[in-house]
Amino acid sequence: MTFPNRRMRRLRHSGALRRLVAETTLTTSDLAVPLFVREDIDAPTPVASMPGVEQHTHASLHKEVERLVTLGVPAIMLFGIPATKDASGSQAWNPQGVVQVALRNLSAAYGSDLVVMADLCVDEYTDHGHCGIIDGRGQVDNDATLEIYGKVAVAQAAAGASVVAPSGMMDGQVAAIRRALDEAEFLDTAILGYSAKFASAFYGPFRDAVDVTIADGGDRQAYQQDWRNGREALEEIRLDIEEGADMVMVKPAMAYLDIIAKARPEVNVPLAAYHVSGEYAMLKAAAQNGWIDGDVAAIETLTAIKRAGADFILTYLGGEVAELLANKR
Ligand code: PBG
Repeated sequence: MTFPNRRMRRLRHSGALRRLVAETTLTTSDLAVPLFVREDIDAPTPVASMPGVEQHTHASLHKEVERLVTLGVPAIMLFGIPATKDASGSQAWNPQGVVQVALRNLSAAYGSDLVVMADLCVDEYTDHGHCGIIDGRGQVDNDATLEIYGKVAVAQAAAGASVVAPSGMMDGQVAAIRRALDEAEFLDTAILGYSAKFASAFYGPFRDAVDVTIADGGDRQAYQQDWRNGREALEEIRLDIEEGADMVMVKPAMAYLDIIAKARPEVNVPLAAYHVSGEYAMLKAAAQNGWIDGDVAAIETLTAIKRAGADFILTYLGGEVAELLANKR
């Protein structure tokens, strides 16, 4: 052969051809958007480290959800910021607590048109910022925390959450929550486990969004996963499924695509990935400086997460990407 072999470029000549042979296509149905609702504010408050993201009032939350539903986004994940915090995070299971009020409003307004998910943790509600109860030695007490998670799950289900998503990385949390839900006869409330959740620096901006500072300069390494470990992540996922998780998650996403790809063939339940606050912030910061094309980078990033094996993606980019997808041909 004296001519160059053009086999690989032959199918790249037009947009239509590239679309036809694309292996992976991101759609609006792949998106779930995390949203923040805050108790003690009269107007939505921007989160400085997450351009485009706000702490919502009940009214502004409703407006944003309306926009997302109209765009065809199938799901949201709700986080609450209470007016008062205490040692056990009791506002997390108060039927009148900020998330429960929002869950009731949204499930009444949208019914089966929207999957309303609730993040199930207490770090936004505790005065020390940890994801559970602190024992006498200053450690997060696993089993005492499980009891609290059961109460939070029942409060969220009673308020209308169709999916509860435990993010605290306590051992046995999925089993404890399933038991509590079943005992309260919330048999149809599904559990999305934050199964392989790493103790990541990429959660930084989220802690601004929910006004959480971990006491005494602490961190979550005694309960979230060590990011040096991949096989351990598969074990976390396997255990969550065994305990009754209906769906499992890998979090963060971009630095953990290998975990998503390894989990994919092992897992026969829906697999989610969370493109977290720091990943969002990096993309936005570079785009705002004109250093990258933010729109293309957003689609490229989420498509890569799907290509790695995620069935759906939790992402703060959800609204803008849904708009981009709607405006494309
Ligand atoms: C815990 C929780 C966190 C996130 C989701 N659920 C914070 C943490 O573990 O410290 C992070 C999400 C993000 O960074 O976007 N309630």
